[in-house]
Amino acid sequence: MAIIKAGNLEKCYRTAAEQVYALRGVDFEINSGDFTIINGPSGSGKTTLLNLLSGIDQPSKGELYLDNLPITKFSDSVRTEIRRDKIGLIFQSFELMPVLTAAENIEYPLLLQKIRRAEREKRVTEILDQVGLSQYARRLPAQLSGGQKQRVAIARALVTRPEVVLSDEPTANLDSETGLKIMELMLELNQKYKVAFVIVTHDLSLNQYAKQIYRIKDGCIISKEENQGVQDRLAEYTA
Ligand SMILES: Nc1ncnc2c1ncn2[C@@H]1O[C@H](COP(=O)(O)OP(=O)(O)OP(=O)(O)O)[C@@H](O)[C@H]1O
Ligand SMILES: [Mg+2]
Repeated sequence: MAIIKAGNLEKCYRTAAEQVYALRGVDFEINSGDFTIINGPSGSGKTTLLNLLSGIDQPSKGELYLDNLPITKFSDSVRTEIRRDKIGLIFQSFELMPVLTAAENIEYPLLLQKIRRAEREKRVTEILDQVGLSQYARRLPAQLSGGQKQRVAIARALVTRPEVVLSDEPTANLDSETGLKIMELMLELNQKYKVAFVIVTHDLSLNQYAKQIYRIKDGCIISKEENQGVQDRLAEYTA
């Protein structure tokens, strides 16, 4: 089932001096359970694309459906609600709230969803365990390593049980070994919760974890391939 469907998406930024075409007619589809990496060099339109998919920004042209909802047709506040309920976001710089503990950061989106306390505690405990941070629940972000902070951010993105997780360069602030462990964890959670992931990055070494690999260049998607290696490895692992 398609979670995201984009048709001929265009984004043109108008500055005082010029018009910048950041996306030039992008078509693509993300299905439930996909683990998709979109690769592209700096300035190719990756962040622009994710901002459209999450409803943070609006396209200049084109169609975009999230879970069959035509999100570009909705107001800012409705898009914010849809984002809160259907999308998890993971950023390069973690974006944790510094005054909240790891557990409180993870709980925060559930408070926004007005989920009752017993359910919140149950979900936070479960997801802390899934990301391997149970013993760090009461630490503040400043007391965690980069990799641990990104695990908190992953837990926060998943605790609301979204349809899709969108992530912009999730490993860029981590050393390469920690970055690859973070990719492993996301792939494991993709399998476990059947939630789709869309990860944009310039780092080709992450492609080994992708089920689908897209390449974006100058605002156009120029290729799509299935990574059969990962699919086979996962089939073996779940058999
Ligand atoms: N708010 C804006 N106003 C004008 N131009 C913009 C704006 N945001 C992005 N751009 C331009 O749009 C193009 C795509 O930018 P985008 O941030 O999507 O690239 P990116 O692939 O995420 O790059 P990076 O890997 O460096 O993060 C670039 O040419 C950029 O300069
Ligand atoms: Mg970017």
